[in-house]
Amino acid sequence: MQSSDTPLRPVTFHQDIPAIRFIAQTRLPEEYVEESAYDIDRLADAIRCLDIRGAPALGVAGAYGIALAALTSTALDLDKFRQEISEAADLLRSTRPTAVNLFYGINRVLTAVEQEQTISAAKDRAVNEADAVADEDSRTCHAIGEHGQKILPQSCRILTHCNAGALACREWGTALGVIRSAVQAGISVQVYACETRPLLQGARLTSWELARDGIDVTVITDSMAASLMRKGMVDIVIVGADRITKDAVFNKIGTYMHAVCANAHQIPFYVAAPFSTFDEESEEADIIVEERSREEIAYFGGRRTIPDLVKVYNPAFDATPVSLVSGIITEHGIFRLPESLSDIRAIRQRS
Ligand code: MRU
Repeated sequence: MQSSDTPLRPVTFHQDIPAIRFIAQTRLPEEYVEESAYDIDRLADAIRCLDIRGAPALGVAGAYGIALAALTSTALDLDKFRQEISEAADLLRSTRPTAVNLFYGINRVLTAVEQEQTISAAKDRAVNEADAVADEDSRTCHAIGEHGQKILPQSCRILTHCNAGALACREWGTALGVIRSAVQAGISVQVYACETRPLLQGARLTSWELARDGIDVTVITDSMAASLMRKGMVDIVIVGADRITKDAVFNKIGTYMHAVCANAHQIPFYVAAPFSTFDEESEEADIIVEERSREEIAYFGGRRTIPDLVKVYNPAFDATPVSLVSGIITEHGIFRLPESLSDIRAIRQRS
């Protein structure tokens, strides 16, 4: 296992092999295992089963996925090569529909590759562009952390949901990036990590990576959050996002519940996310929310918890109206919607 001195990086690219190496997140916290994807099918499986997960990490994986498809292509003519890369992009896009970063990472590398006129130049370009996507994500998360820590009091109890940490990004994290930057700045932080039913990203992953860094973390069940807020045990809620439209923040199912409760208790509710998570021309109604399998809810710890004939509804994400969001902490500062929509559009067009 990596030591806590080295940055926790869930997805890395090994050009010499070539392969994408990833932390098998479904196996945490019982065991820390790194696995390799030597082809796109294996990468797509790892994304579908949530070994690789979290919006920015999906962007990095998507970008490196196109680089992997380019390097492993045996096509001898450019048209065939471009067709193979485009099919790889389609496969990766089909894995998870909600996190917009996946599409961002894939499209960035695809667009770069399409500009090259030889296969060899296209392969080099694919790797360079995917590296750029990954490096930008690292810089972005650190910038989010810096902007975010400035709004926190010197001693702070933070509630978070799901995992918006290093494991969900290239490193550092978005919501957990704010927490890491706060700790670095000398702020005394206590984190409540909601367990995040049904797949327990908060209990399994957020607590694991914060404990690894020596940050004070307590796991609570999702249904305890309202009570903690009522008892005055939470100063601020900070969560990540999978997609931000002009009117809503899409994030792990349960986020909306925390936003409603935070607002009812006058507790600030912040979202930490990079600009690559904005989909500001879309509206909530345009977005497909991934629905996952019955098994994720019908079994717990290997035991069946729901009778066979009973129906299950398992959306992976919910939408929080922007009116409930105190601010969106980004690499370019903190924005509010809808007031900042034109500023967000202007920054997006410049980059
Ligand atoms: O289904 P997951 O585990 O991919 O969902 C992840 C989340 O909802 C995160 O909060 C979001 O992707 C932001 S990660 C910085």
